Amino acid sequence: MSEPSSPAWPPAPIRTERLVLRESEARDRPACVELFSSPEVNTYLGGPRPRDECERTLPPTPERRPGLFVVECDGTMIGTVELRRREIRAGESAIGYLFLPAAWGRGYAAEACTAALGWYAAALPAEPVALYTQSANTRSMRLAAKLGFTEAERFHKWGAEQWKGVRTPPA
Ligand SMILES: CC(C)(COP(=O)(O)OP(=O)(O)OC[C@H]1O[C@@H](n2cnc3c(N)ncnc32)[C@H](O)[C@@H]1OP(=O)(O)O)[C@@H](O)C(=O)NCCC(=O)NCCS
Repeated sequence: MSEPSSPAWPPAPIRTERLVLRESEARDRPACVELFSSPEVNTYLGGPRPRDECERTLPPTPERRPGLFVVECDGTMIGTVELRRREIRAGESAIGYLFLPAAWGRGYAAEACTAALGWYAAALPAEPVALYTQSANTRSMRLAAKLGFTEAERFHKWGAEQWKGVRTPPA
């Protein structure tokens, strides 16, 4: 039997010790506005979007798409993890993450990414996953190393050094 091209979507909510990974809901909208307009969150992502623009333009239920998980802690959204094949790079699978500053420094991002990578590997066991981040983004670089990503490439884009890591699931 051949491997599926991507995991079935949406999966049942994924529960970890402290978190739930699920699709977005209308009640996540304020946290999404905060995520996109926060200067801290967007320091290495091209800068924040104006808050009033986010308030005006975000749909009533924040965008849902395959591979995009809202991460919930104690009933409230604290960030997102996205893991899917990206058309932009020849169908490469890649992970990305955004967490609200109040949730940093507690291991939540590592816990959520580990769960998402496990979900992905269960459907696509041999699929390597890429991770792109600015090399100056030290929190993100530490997280990438913790998750088992190793350096594949460094390159300059958007006026900064970008780092590409790759993680191949254990055989
Ligand atoms: C990148 C980002 C997700 C990292 O978040 P983070 O909270 O630092 O990452 P982790 O979940 O790995 O947490 C690690 C920290 O939690 C601490 N921690 C506390 N309790 C912990 C626990 N129970 N388990 C594990 N770590 C714990 C660790 O000691 C570590 O602390 P340190 O930062 O002082 O070294 C976050 O900074 C972010 O969202 N940045 C903005 C978006 C962005 O730049 N994304 C990158 C583009 S893909």
